[in-house]
Amino acid sequence: MKHLLTIDDISADEAIGILDTSEAFFEVAKRPVKKVPTLRGKTVINLFYENSTRTRTSFELAGKRMSADVINMSVASSSVKKGESLYDTVKTLEAMHPDIVIVRHGASGAPQYIASRVAFSVINAGDGTHAHPTQALLDAFTLRRARGRIDGLTVAICGDIARSRVARSNALLLTKLGAKVRFVAPRTLLPADSSAYDVEVYEELEAGIAGVDVIMALRIQHERLAGSLLPSLREYSRTFGINDAALSLADPDCLVMHPGPMNRGVEISPEVADSPRSLVLNQVEAGLAVRMALLYLFAGEGADAPAD
Ligand code: CP
Repeated sequence: MKHLLTIDDISADEAIGILDTSEAFFEVAKRPVKKVPTLRGKTVINLFYENSTRTRTSFELAGKRMSADVINMSVASSSVKKGESLYDTVKTLEAMHPDIVIVRHGASGAPQYIASRVAFSVINAGDGTHAHPTQALLDAFTLRRARGRIDGLTVAICGDIARSRVARSNALLLTKLGAKVRFVAPRTLLPADSSAYDVEVYEELEAGIAGVDVIMALRIQHERLAGSLLPSLREYSRTFGINDAALSLADPDCLVMHPGPMNRGVEISPEVADSPRSLVLNQVEAGLAVRMALLYLFAGEGADAPAD
């Protein structure tokens, strides 16, 4: 595998292999000295056309902890602002011989466009409403650690699903790994292509979260115009927010995930986000391990994974 563009690029066995490799790197973050020489001499470029805290920082830290040279290209201060095209930007980067370029872009398909025109490996860090495969992998890693398995779990993905690349990638990966997935949202926030996924669809929160093992709350994406599809955020919060009242309808051991960034008080209450049932910070911790594993699998050929 040269690129990771969507979850469709990997089989269930390959996904399990990535999660298993991530376990070794998960332990590295707990060592007093967190650096390993695995990617010495390799170059990783973060090319983010959209804002990011978790994904960009964890890819940067992952590369640095593995001794790669990591460049964070600031699009805001680059020649993109002078009108340079995506094609010319990536061909310019290619001329500097990076090994891996991590791409986030507002346009669905931009990572595929790049991957078909360059020699380096491309990892999709989120493109439009299409895909966020590394988020799905870190969510699967978090879930497997919290529950001991993925096969047989039921996961309710709740909220602004129509505009969510996280929801699409999670639906593909979790079903591939044997979980049952539900899309739970008001009709205006459900994707037109729900039938393309092996999921059950619910338009009422109470029925959607009944009996599930995990609720995955999604951010209302103001920047992708979700606001115009809801009467008000207050009403959304009252009818679809994941709060203590909603959780009282779920199983007592039901866990809660959120990919971040969170709109506290909208799709998730602060009490739930900070509760023992919340896996939000476990997801962030997993992100570093999974991204280290991916950089290792893409560029660390010949190097040993860290020993237990
Ligand atoms: N979950 C996620 O992709 O977060 P960032 O936008 O902060 O990277």
